[in-house]
Amino acid sequence: MNLETQVKARIESVQVEMNRIRAGLLVLGLSSGMRYLTGFTDEPGERMLLLLVPREGDALFFVPQLYEPQVRDASPVERFTVWRDGEDPALVLRHALTKVGDLRGTILVEPTLWAECLLILQQALPDNSFASAAGILAPLRMRKSAEEVELLRRAGELADAAFVQVTQEPIVGLTELQLAAKLEANMLSAGADSVAFNTLVASGAFGAMPHHRAGQRKIEWGDVVILDYGCKVDGYCSDISRTVICGEPTPAVVKAYDAVKRAHQAAFDSIRPGVSAQDIDRAARGVLKNLGYDNRFIHRTGHGIGLDVHEPPYIIEGNGIFLEPGMAFSIEPGVYFPDQFGIRLEDVAVVTELGGILMTTVTRDMQVVG
Ligand code: CO
Repeated sequence: MNLETQVKARIESVQVEMNRIRAGLLVLGLSSGMRYLTGFTDEPGERMLLLLVPREGDALFFVPQLYEPQVRDASPVERFTVWRDGEDPALVLRHALTKVGDLRGTILVEPTLWAECLLILQQALPDNSFASAAGILAPLRMRKSAEEVELLRRAGELADAAFVQVTQEPIVGLTELQLAAKLEANMLSAGADSVAFNTLVASGAFGAMPHHRAGQRKIEWGDVVILDYGCKVDGYCSDISRTVICGEPTPAVVKAYDAVKRAHQAAFDSIRPGVSAQDIDRAARGVLKNLGYDNRFIHRTGHGIGLDVHEPPYIIEGNGIFLEPGMAFSIEPGVYFPDQFGIRLEDVAVVTELGGILMTTVTRDMQVVG
């Protein structure tokens, strides 16, 4: 599907839902949601750049003048209101709102829209009620098309290749940041657009902190090292975690590693349409519980992934959403031993009629490195 057809279809789907729930306007800032609906996005900044989607009629880009050519180049959306540096964007926005469409109904704003912008909208539309737009894009974005899955797969391939490369060379003596830089350089030189998030290298006792990023600690013999990283291809993310051992693993590490690997496998094996998100979490958690690691698995089993690294569906107890073909999410069980080490294995899986398929496939067997 070309971009123009895709953008038209996605905006129309959103408008159908807006009509159903009597929303007057959808407002998106620079975000993955904007990219999904228009083909364009950038890092959010202080200059107001919005997409306004009325319940009926054409969507409108509200853009600073210096952005106009760039947005027109990237997106087939044709309706623009342009404001210039030196103008008060709030005033220009007020005027644009009077023309964008019939605004009776709730104003839906993206959760990540800057508060400053929301305040301007609330002042301009004092009679409207405001609500989060989180629920309107998520159902669409959760079900990936074949083209989207292909991009997830390509992003995964680059992550796989980076792991193979860095584990062929010694890592003992590198700092966590140096190892992170190697992984990132690998993916970028092989064709990734960018990293999907700041690469996480957690060595030794830092491995017991699931969101330790990467620091100046030098990797030593005997360390257990978690690598958690990914890249983007055409906006779509990969996310993989592998745990490597520097030298001979202790029996405790071997046992824990095996438990995590089994939990990952159990979660993957339980993927099929009609199973709920929490069932996948329970499958992984059940294995770790049976093996005595219940209180070591201190986070959910996974998160949806697409244009955002973390998006619905979340693979967590309490999420009863039923899996459908095209849904993509990570499975990432881990165990954490404070002051000692951590182990996590993560791959992104996509639901198909026949079960799950993995976007990263590099070995999950224990890798002993130097
Ligand atoms: Co993840």
